[in-house]
Amino acid sequence: MTGMTVLVVGGGGREHALGIGLAASESVASLHTAPGNAGTAMVGTNHDVSSSDIDGLASLAEELGAGLVVVGPEAPLVDGLADSLRAKGIACFGPHSEGARLEGSKLHAKRVMQSLGVPTGGCIVVEAADEIDAALDLFEAPWVVKRDVLAAGKGVTVTLDRQQAADALARGLESDGFVLLEEHLFGEEASVLVVMDESGYVCLPASQDHKRVGEGDTGPNTGGMGAYAPAPVATPTVLQRVVDEIVEPMHHHLRNQVTPYRGCLYLGLMIDSEGAPRVIEFNVRFGDPETQVTVPLISSDFAELLLACAEGRVSEIEVDFHTHSAATVVLASEGYPASSATGRVISGSEVDLGEGEISGFVHYAGTMFDGSGNLVSSGGRVLAATGIAPDLRSAVGVAYEVMRCIELEGSHFRSDIAYRAL
Ligand code: AMP
Ligand code: GLY
Repeated sequence: MTGMTVLVVGGGGREHALGIGLAASESVASLHTAPGNAGTAMVGTNHDVSSSDIDGLASLAEELGAGLVVVGPEAPLVDGLADSLRAKGIACFGPHSEGARLEGSKLHAKRVMQSLGVPTGGCIVVEAADEIDAALDLFEAPWVVKRDVLAAGKGVTVTLDRQQAADALARGLESDGFVLLEEHLFGEEASVLVVMDESGYVCLPASQDHKRVGEGDTGPNTGGMGAYAPAPVATPTVLQRVVDEIVEPMHHHLRNQVTPYRGCLYLGLMIDSEGAPRVIEFNVRFGDPETQVTVPLISSDFAELLLACAEGRVSEIEVDFHTHSAATVVLASEGYPASSATGRVISGSEVDLGEGEISGFVHYAGTMFDGSGNLVSSGGRVLAATGIAPDLRSAVGVAYEVMRCIELEGSHFRSDIAYRAL
């Protein structure tokens, strides 16, 4: 399809990365984002419609004459945005609300995996305060406590301290009525983004996210502080096991649903020392910041891939990849993840280190232009410094070179992104 109008939903670094990928496609004539950020405004037109306003987004897609809507975050998918768009005959990349329950409810995802024999950790549901002690006895430290709600990666407590685990269970019980206690999985994490519809699937290069706020993977969980791809932990042998043991059974299951799954199935994996993969969680969308290091590695037409998936014909598309590596380092606001100082001026982010096979630039996230045209911070994860190069060490080096150009008062970033691979 040529001359297509595309609407991207969301306003993070992921949506800027999706926008860059889509804008590079010859089939895209006009690109729009709702609500977007400073970066998406540079590759298309922003619209002041919140990503939680399902009716507003569906109307916007209709007004724009969108041939494709690409949904970044999970919440509008859980709330039925894809259902509304498909009812209007608009192709949507992102699953309908039933498919989105794989992320919306961790308990539902566990039950699906258990019924299909997909490898994952054990899990019990705690429904009353007097069950807490016995539940903690069932698993060894560290304990993993999860609320069964959408919490942007922050609804999870992993702790060696039994009292902290008991407190997290009690808090979850109080707010939600039940809470999950999971077996702790050991190994190295990897994310595999799978573009999937009823006709087939395409696994994108595996990446590794850094979810903890502090150096050496310490401190509280965040939405993600940096990522790199391809992740060497996902060797060809490991990836074959991921396909055989996880992707194939999930595809078989999802293609046979009343409304088949069309979108990204994000596999959050733990790979043990023997190379056995187990699922920590599913997400029903692209990862953030994994997208920032994955989309640049796709050498084929990105819009064509997403449109084919939204129309249920992904098996007809051939997808090629660059042999490069990519790394991205997130710059977070003062106080993140507990709080975020916003409204502060950012300077130096226009840096562009493109030269030959190397490029270094910024993916914008929680940013906006204020009334005076200044670029200011507006969220917890403000931007990401991204490097692309023939090898991972150079990509990481370029990403930090970009980061050194940027100033934002009180901000912080991790200086050890990709340390496991280097
Ligand atoms: P989730 O929101 O389920 O992805 O959890 C956020 C992060 O907590 C994961 O990326 C892991 O780093 C950690 N985590 C969650 N569940 C487990 C588990 N069962 N074993 C070990 N680490 C976990
Ligand atoms: N980077 C983790 C996520 O997108 O859920």
